[in-house]
Amino acid sequence: MSPPLPAFLLLVSIAFTSASVAPLRPGFYAETCPEAEFIVKDVMRRNMIREPRSAASVMRFQFHDCFVNGCDASMLLDDTPNMLGEKLSLSNIDSLRSYEVIDEIKEELERVCPGMVSCADIIIMASRDAVVLSGGPDWEVKLGREDSLTASQEDADNIMPSPRANASLLMDLFERFNLSVKDMVALSGSHSIGQARCFLYSLQAL
Ligand code: HEM
Ligand SMILES: *[C@@H]1O[C@H](CO)[C@@H](O)[C@H](O)[C@H]1NC(C)=O
Ligand SMILES: *[C@@H]1O[C@H](CO)[C@@H](O)[C@H](O)[C@H]1NC(C)=O
Repeated sequence: MSPPLPAFLLLVSIAFTSASVAPLRPGFYAETCPEAEFIVKDVMRRNMIREPRSAASVMRFQFHDCFVNGCDASMLLDDTPNMLGEKLSLSNIDSLRSYEVIDEIKEELERVCPGMVSCADIIIMASRDAVVLSGGPDWEVKLGREDSLTASQEDADNIMPSPRANASLLMDLFERFNLSVKDMVALSGSHSIGQARCFLYSLQAL
């Protein structure tokens, strides 16, 4: 379960863009929900005992959330009659997992401090905790994100890389987030845990 350190160390230092205007800061919930970080970690721990793979799935969750219009939890929104959300986008459909982990954390937090902790922050905290609970390093997360009220399947489809993307395309994509080639390679080390579907290993045949 122990992934290579560089991937995690880089996750620490990456400042993804955020939907909110006020600067993010550590301890954002110190007054409004002092137990927030403890609760997130506790639910994450319970989920990893039930299903160790949820560590990987939650980590991937952060990547898919943050790359598409900022870390705003938009991928949690279901489709509506006039909005196609991100759940059914090419890289998420039948693939992105652990929605129920984020839901469970949110439920627990709503019981303790209703209306305080954003889902966008929950994803950031849970992803960090997935790393810590897998035996990786610990770090302080900046909080204070706001949840998006909209999502875009089209943006998700346009932004998220295909499993067949070549190196130059991936390097260009990561550069848009000010991530170097070194960052990209290290972050890809995240794939040392979790699973992928079989057909992805035989793409040459497609
Ligand atoms: C560099 C571009 C990337 C591509 C093309 C890519 C592609 C993929 C694909 C195709 C899968 C398998 C999905 C499935 O079978 O349903 C996967 C899984 C995964 N990805 Fe990535 N990925 C990329 C970057 C990242 C990054 C930056 C992270 C996190 C830092 C990440 C974390 C993961 C994890 C943990 C899994 C396993 C998830 C699970 O078991 O539920 N990936 N990725
Ligand atoms: C990488 O893929 C893009 C898009 O499919 C293509 O335009 C480009 O020529 C490819 N680059 C290399 C070096 O193969
Ligand atoms: C990347 O860095 C440039 C220059 O510092 C900055 O203007 C831009 O907003 C950054 N982009 C992202 C996605 O953080």
